[in-house]
Amino acid sequence: MGDGAAPNARSIRSKNRSDVRLRRARLADAPRIAALAAQLGYPSPASEVRKRLERIRRDDNHFVSVAEIGGKVVGWVHAFVKYSIDAGPRAEIGGLVVDASRRRAGLGKLLMGEAEEWARSRELEGVYLRSNVLREPAHAFYEAIGFRKFKSQHCFLKLL
Ligand SMILES: CC(C)(COP(=O)(O)OP(=O)(O)OC[C@H]1O[C@@H](n2cnc3c(N)ncnc32)[C@H](O)[C@@H]1OP(=O)(O)O)[C@@H](O)C(=O)NCCC(=O)NCCS
Repeated sequence: MGDGAAPNARSIRSKNRSDVRLRRARLADAPRIAALAAQLGYPSPASEVRKRLERIRRDDNHFVSVAEIGGKVVGWVHAFVKYSIDAGPRAEIGGLVVDASRRRAGLGKLLMGEAEEWARSRELEGVYLRSNVLREPAHAFYEAIGFRKFKSQHCFLKLL
């Protein structure tokens, strides 16, 4: 994937009439992606985000799209192919965030639409996501755009 204009970039008018450009993320987006990730509750230095993005962009099983308004990245979504033994391949959402000053303008829905379109193009059987129980507004959002809550779980981590 090159760093130039992504072939699937497109422009659209948002609900509040801003011109939104949706395109694949570039390495130069790392500082804005990092700033937005901090809003999501995952602060990381831009240099680290750049390294992660560099790796992700080389892998066809990953997809990162950004929404840009007036040349500024105001939201991003990351999706990846999840293979498992107990179900067919699905897209999983690794992260989604819209700048706090731009919420409720349809950008989250547009970004999720991009991830869904990518999942369809890969012939994946669905889109799966996990969301912290505390993120009630996000749950209302996912239900509004057609997702159904089907279970709750605990997450476990062992650092190596
Ligand atoms: C969740 C998030 C990505 C939604 O993005 P957004 O651009 O604000 O959402 P949209 O404007 O596309 O919303 C589409 C519909 O979802 C529903 N919705 C969105 N936000 C909502 C909220 N806070 N409360 C209730 N319903 C909501 C509405 O039905 C909305 O349509 P409407 O505005 O016409 O009523 C955004 O709120 C965000 O970045 N939150 C912080 C990070 C986060 O929680 N990410 C998800 C982690 S799992």
